[in-house]
Amino acid sequence: MLVHAITPNTSYEFAADVRAGLTTPGQKELPSKYLYDDVGSALFEVICHLPEYGLTRADERLLQRHSYDIVGRLARPIAVAELGSGSGRKTRQILEALSRRQLTRYYPIEISRAALLMCERELSDIDSVSILGFEREYLDGLLEVAAQRSSGQHLLVLFLGSTIGNFDRPAGIQFLAEVRRILMPGDSLLLGTDLVKSSAQLLAAYDDELGVTAAFNLNLLARINRELDADFNVAEFEHEAKINHQNRSVEMHLRSMRRQTVNIHTAGISVDFFEGETIWTESSHKYSLQEVCDMATATGYRCEAQWVDEQWPFAENLLVAK
Ligand code: AVI
Repeated sequence: MLVHAITPNTSYEFAADVRAGLTTPGQKELPSKYLYDDVGSALFEVICHLPEYGLTRADERLLQRHSYDIVGRLARPIAVAELGSGSGRKTRQILEALSRRQLTRYYPIEISRAALLMCERELSDIDSVSILGFEREYLDGLLEVAAQRSSGQHLLVLFLGSTIGNFDRPAGIQFLAEVRRILMPGDSLLLGTDLVKSSAQLLAAYDDELGVTAAFNLNLLARINRELDADFNVAEFEHEAKINHQNRSVEMHLRSMRRQTVNIHTAGISVDFFEGETIWTESSHKYSLQEVCDMATATGYRCEAQWVDEQWPFAENLLVAK
């Protein structure tokens, strides 16, 4: 696999985002993308196996059961681009179904080189599929992929795992519109969305008994210590999951267990925390089937089909660019 790589100035951007998120008056917050360094990505893989967190298994089950139906509905010939490929495990089903019909070019787009390499290891054995990875932000990568398509070739974009749920709702809609702008009529987007479910189920999923999600969240402070020369005492913070009923989301926070001051040298700041103050690190929005179709219609797609898992409310939505 050829990997188109960039060398981003990540630590400067990280320091700037941490400074903004922890010094702007009001609720302290940190962008959820920073949860995924090597340690965080490994912890997230473990989360996907937890009995309380059914999301990934539901996504995998749906793809396992319906890949042939999904692929049968696509205009061909087609190339596949995936936004945030992760390990590539889920994608196997789609690529195998496609490889029975045509030679397929698969473009995983990831900011993590480690994830791209894992994805190649996972999928390189599939006959008739060639892989070309892009170490890029999603939309930058997709623009490059779209520029490589041959005439008459369609694109299937995969955005699985309900990653869209980590955008706030307006940003999620804007993202769908931006993807649509890169696509041509007849191209498709397969969008995985976690559906609305009970608060008890959500709280268990985002605050598991074993403490893996807590470690995933707290690792963000340890990461700031490692990369930005900071002195967070990680043991003085605790993980908190809470339901935001109004936004139909579950939020992750890091709660300061006492009054304290933290120095983050590379960001040039000292940050005071009062006892009980939180840093908001992630929101995970949940959807209804109708809402997904409404978002799709509003951003230039036709809602071709939706498949819902029977064990864990989760949907695979096939959206076709109009
Ligand atoms: C990646 N994303 C869809 C996960 C989610 O469920 O929102 C991230 C996650 N955070 C805590 N557990 C899982």
